[in-house]
Amino acid sequence: TMTVFMGGDVYMAEFNPMVYLQHFRVEEEVMIILNHSLTQSGAVKGCTLIDICSGPTIYQLLSACEFFKEITASEYTDQNCQEMLKWLKNEAGAFDWTPVVQHVCQLEGDRYRTWAEKEGKIQRAIKCILKCDVHKSNALDSVVLPPADCLVTSLCFEAACKDQSSYRAAPRDISSLQKPGGTWRKVEIWAPVSTWLVHKSSPVCAAGFTIEKVEVLSRADVAMHDINDFSGMYFIVALSRPRGSPSWHK
Ligand SMILES: C[S@@+](CC[C@H](N)C(=O)[O-])C[C@H]1O[C@@H](n2cnc3c(N)ncnc32)[C@H](O)[C@@H]1O
Repeated sequence: TMTVFMGGDVYMAEFNPMVYLQHFRVEEEVMIILNHSLTQSGAVKGCTLIDICSGPTIYQLLSACEFFKEITASEYTDQNCQEMLKWLKNEAGAFDWTPVVQHVCQLEGDRYRTWAEKEGKIQRAIKCILKCDVHKSNALDSVVLPPADCLVTSLCFEAACKDQSSYRAAPRDISSLQKPGGTWRKVEIWAPVSTWLVHKSSPVCAAGFTIEKVEVLSRADVAMHDINDFSGMYFIVALSRPRGSPSWHK
């Protein structure tokens, strides 16, 4: 493929949060519905959740904040951390998530009197934004958190990994951030190389998870296909095996 790998330093120098957020508008509808549907699967609940590689976005956490009291966001670049922080603090110039929050409120059956209540809920649930590098053995650097009930990765590894071997290694490292028996909710771009992602020999299974649920979204548009040639997305819920249990699969 024509894919050119962008290392973390390139993201740091060139990733523009506002451009990414504006582009997100194109995909948001289905992304939100599928994120919501995964979260409703029942397997995904607990007290603490860590979102790895959050970028400047919160859409991936909107349904989750109904099931987890404490959310830790994390991101590699300073500009994305700052962009999210701006929104969490309601600062001027922050991205307007209102239409997305309203949409999720509707999907959840309009439990809130106003969308602003839901916005307040997620802003309170996100306790902090940590620096993160998925290639480090502790992805959250020197911060050691108690193992979480749930990990979320959304469009993470295919952005951060330069080849299949680092793509295979990264999930194993982040699995240590999680309690045995916890859940991993994952959205992954389906490039031609990653059709093995949901196979028994996939990095998800190799990292000690059992895949519970998969939704596949084929790409309909061909916008910017020359620079971004993915063909679809996987939405996955996986459960980690309790420690000490066998590592083979049915
Ligand atoms: C495609 S964005 C995904 C953002 C968000 N999770 C979403 O669903 O829209 C990929 C993110 O990965 C971050 N990233 C790049 N290299 C990374 C690394 N080594 N460790 C953690 N995050 C990294 C980038 O800064 C960028 O914010």
